[in-house]
Amino acid sequence: MGVFSCDTGHEQVVFCQDKQTGLRAIIGIYSTALGPALGGTRFYPYASEEEALHDVLELSRAMAYKNALAGLDLGGGKAVIWGDPDKIKTEPLLRAYGRFVESLGGRYYTACDVGTYVADMDIIARETRYVTGRSVEHGGAGDSSILTAWGVFQGMRAAVEHVFGTPSLRGRRVGVAGLGKVGRYLVPHLLEDGASVVATDVNPKALEWARTNHPEVDLVADTTALITSDIDVYAPCALGGALNDETVPLLRAKVVAGAANNQLAHAGIEKLLADRGILYAPDYVVNAGGVIQVADEIEGFNFERAKLRATRIYDTTKQILALADAEGVPPAVAADRLAERRMAEVGRLRTIRL
Ligand SMILES: NC(=O)c1ccc[n+]([C@@H]2O[C@H](COP(=O)([O-])OP(=O)(O)OC[C@H]3O[C@@H](n4cnc5c(N)ncnc54)[C@H](O)[C@@H]3O)[C@@H](O)[C@H]2O)c1
Repeated sequence: MGVFSCDTGHEQVVFCQDKQTGLRAIIGIYSTALGPALGGTRFYPYASEEEALHDVLELSRAMAYKNALAGLDLGGGKAVIWGDPDKIKTEPLLRAYGRFVESLGGRYYTACDVGTYVADMDIIARETRYVTGRSVEHGGAGDSSILTAWGVFQGMRAAVEHVFGTPSLRGRRVGVAGLGKVGRYLVPHLLEDGASVVATDVNPKALEWARTNHPEVDLVADTTALITSDIDVYAPCALGGALNDETVPLLRAKVVAGAANNQLAHAGIEKLLADRGILYAPDYVVNAGGVIQVADEIEGFNFERAKLRATRIYDTTKQILALADAEGVPPAVAADRLAERRMAEVGRLRTIRL
């Protein structure tokens, strides 16, 4: 195991290897200013070690900002395991990984991400205390998409209020792209609040779910049909990069608020949205319900407490939108500033010697 230092602003980057099991992992700790770094483990067949390193550096930084704005006493970290989970994921490999997590002595807490599941966290937990996102049988919180969807709904209410003057979706038309785990919990919140919903998904099973459970939802062929239809709010709930040079000029919605991570395809898109008069509620702010849930599990999971915290995404989104107006910057920039402020101001308190 070696420690890598670089000029990206990260506190610590740790390379882990166990030849016997084929484990190659990188743990990135961006900041522990607010507490132990929390972020999931992505298990992915990266083309190169460089690509894996790039991903962990980006993702761990993003977690620091997300956790700061979620009001958590947790810093930002993330880990990647380099390899195809379908080919190399085994109990010994996960346990070897768990031992590396343990070796950091609580500076980093891991959880699920792409390619890792609650069952994997249960295995990792046999070697380390510093793991969350476990199964209900093992005292975990279970499916994080419930509170993710709840938080997205709260962030959407705040964004809609900013644009239309009332924090309700009543009479609004919302386009949901992606009826996966989060999308399926989001749709009922929207309908209950009085919105009409149009949705799309590439998976026929997801469309079947909508036809069976919510026949009042209109279904369209693809995302282009969705975003060019007469919608007030666009909720990207599928993959990253939903807001790009092709889609933004076509968007008819006045508000974007959805669960997908990394919605802005590249820097500058936030400006393009602002120029078109479209309010973008930053993804990492509104989709923090999931991390709020796994963070709550560290204390011993209490659904009502975690839900209350996820409900506050409404207030945080409002605060960010007000700051954006006051400072004349896009909401994504205001969100970054607010996160940096909290990390600096609360993090500084640790210099008061106890
Ligand atoms: N699950 C969580 O708690 C959570 C938390 C934070 C962020 N997110 C993010 O939210 C997004 C959705 O997460 P999820 O857990 O629901 O994932 P999921 O895989 O369950 O659902 C994604 C859905 O999008 C559909 N999809 C894929 N490509 C599409 C396309 N081009 N057009 C339309 N639909 C498409 C898929 O068929 C699937 O039904 C992801 O970006 C994820 O990273 C999820």
